[in-house]
Order: sequence, then C-alpha cells, then structure tokens
Amino acid sequence: MGRRSVLIGTGSALPARIVTNAELADQVDTSDEWIVERSGIRQRHIAGEGETTGTLATAAARQALAAAGIEPDSIDLIVLGTTTPDQTFPATATLVQRDLGCAGGIAFDVAAVCSGFLYALGVADAMLRTGMAHRALVIGAETMSRIVDWEDRATCVLFGDGAGAIVLEARESDDPSAPGVIASRLHADGRHNELLFVDGGPSTTGTVGKIRMKGKEVFKHAVTNLADVLREVLDAAGISADELDWVVPHQANKRILDGTAKKLGLAAEKVIVTVDRHANTSAASVPLALDIAVRDGRIVPGQLVMLEAMGGGFTWGASLIRM
Ligand code: UT7
Repeated sequence: MGRRSVLIGTGSALPARIVTNAELADQVDTSDEWIVERSGIRQRHIAGEGETTGTLATAAARQALAAAGIEPDSIDLIVLGTTTPDQTFPATATLVQRDLGCAGGIAFDVAAVCSGFLYALGVADAMLRTGMAHRALVIGAETMSRIVDWEDRATCVLFGDGAGAIVLEARESDDPSAPGVIASRLHADGRHNELLFVDGGPSTTGTVGKIRMKGKEVFKHAVTNLADVLREVLDAAGISADELDWVVPHQANKRILDGTAKKLGLAAEKVIVTVDRHANTSAASVPLALDIAVRDGRIVPGQLVMLEAMGGGFTWGASLIRM
C-alpha cells in the first residue's frame, strides 16, 4: 500500500482593512487605471495594529481545522511558508503551534517567498509519505505591507496581506484515482537575486529591508518558468492540461495568469483569480485562492487541481492534487 497526503480541509484569513487603488493614488504618483490595466489589481487587504503574519496564519489554520473536523492536538507537523515572519527567530510556525495548543509535533518555516506555500506543501507531503508525521497543517501567511517601500510606486501598489492554510492527512491507498497529492516539482535559480529581493536582513544590514523588483524581467521569467513546471508535473502525472478541473495560480499579476494559461492551451474559465481583490500576498496567495474556490463551491471532492507559484530567488513550483 502506498501512503498519500490527502487534503481534508482549507481555511484563510484576511486583515479587516481594505485599501483601494484610489487611496494609493493619494499617496504615490499612480492611478486606478494604470494598476488595473498592468496588474488586474483593484484592492488589497492591509494588516492593522495587532494583525501579524502569526495571527493571520493562526486564524487561517483554525478555519482549516474546523473544515477538516479535527482537533488541533492531532496535528503533528506545521510547515509555514512566509517571507515576513513575526520575529527573526523562532519560526512563526511555532507561534501558530503555541496559539493553537498543539505542542510537541514538528513546526518550522520555509522561506521561498511567493513559492513558499508550494515549497511547504512539497516538504510536508514528503514527510507524511515517509511516516515522519501523520497530520500536517500547511500554511502560507504574509504581511508584505511591512516590507513594502511605500514611496516606490512600482512595487507598493502590487502587494497585500493575508493567510491560507490546508490540513493534510496521511492515508494508505493503492487506488491511483484516490484523493491526495499526485505529483509535485520545485525549482530554484539563485542567479536572479538582483531582479527581486529585499535590501536588508539580520546578517547584512541588521534591518528588515524593503522589497526591490525589476518587474518587467520578473514577468518574463515567470511566464516561462511556470509553463515549464506545469508541463513537468502534467508529464509526471501522465495527464494533459485539458484533464485539469482547476488551476490555482500564485496571484501576482492577471497578465501572468493569462499568459501562462495561453502557453498551456488552458481554458481561462478554469483559472481561479483573486488578484483583483487580494493583490500579491506572496506565500499566502495560493492557499487563500484555493480556500475561496472551495468555500464558494467551485472546487469539489474528486476534482483534479493544479497549484503553481513563482517568486523571489527565483523559486518556482507546481503541485497536482486530487481533491
Ligand atoms: O510574486 C512574483 C513576483 N512578482 C511578479 O510576478 C511581478 C512581475 N511583474 C509585473 O507584474 C509587471 O512587470 C508590473 C505590474 C510590475 C509592471 O508592469 P509593466 O507593464 O512591466 O510596466 P513597467 O515596469 O515596464 O513600467 C511601465 C511604465 C514605466 O514608465 P516609463 O519608464 O515607461 O515612462 C513606469 O515608471 O509605468 C511606470 N510605472 C507606473 N505608473 C503608474 C511603474 N509603476 C507605476 C505605477 N503607476 N504604480
């Protein structure tokens, strides 16, 4: 019998405050028209006082546990993708563990920026399949607003805050059509650091730093890398793009979603889009979009769902799941 990681619940959380493009146009030289045309973003949620990556992650995790119908103390693994931890150390995953009341299992953060959730999922799936844990919370959570340069119009209009979480449970099955993570592929290419990075850190400046991005170059790499890794996962699973029920992409830019779908010959109606409401929430964007589509009834058990993301590093990856 083979061990599989089965998705048994999803959850998400967003800060209360919504900031529209029009509000940003009062602060920097931009316009609603430019932001919508270039990125598809209309608004974003921004964390207020007392809202942190940890509190958003915990709220999303609670929802995912409730959806799965399980108690926090049965969780023995928490993997949290984030690039905006509450503290330099310890890992925000341990704060979530403390606040949920599920001490004693494994808990750590994964740093892969916008691909953080895909990396967290890959690690959790491998640990569940090898028997190191049995029930995992996989979370993507960010407060990008805290590392955005609010004077740089080229980046500050693009990001938002939020969190998404899933519960994975290890189950034995030999049925290839049974629910579970079917195939995942992850990549990194450290040569592109200067195209997307933060200009600070504990070991260099001793400060947190701010996001710096050469948007146009990142855009080109994103469409190519995403199309490549999607094909890789489809090949590994032995299926074609038209067999997918849904694609849940990282929500950085509506034009990247459209470009990637076009390259793969994928119908636009199968792509879950939340970038208009949430902007780019980095590691949170994929599980957040997934939870929204599960809760509004689009994604249902039995369907084939592809998750994908690309971000700083560069890092990128994709994962195919039977719901
Ligand atoms: O999460 C994963 C990593 N991130 C991404 O995937 C982001 C990838 N990149 C993008 O989404 C797009 O490149 C952007 C949305 C960032 C920019 O769109 P673009 O079509 O590549 O525009 P651009 O950077 O070439 O800028 C075009 C013009 C420039 O003016 P000039 O040089 O043509 O006179 C910019 O200065 O737009 C100007 N501009 C703005 N204008 C109004 C840049 N930001 C703004 C702004 N409002 N907020």
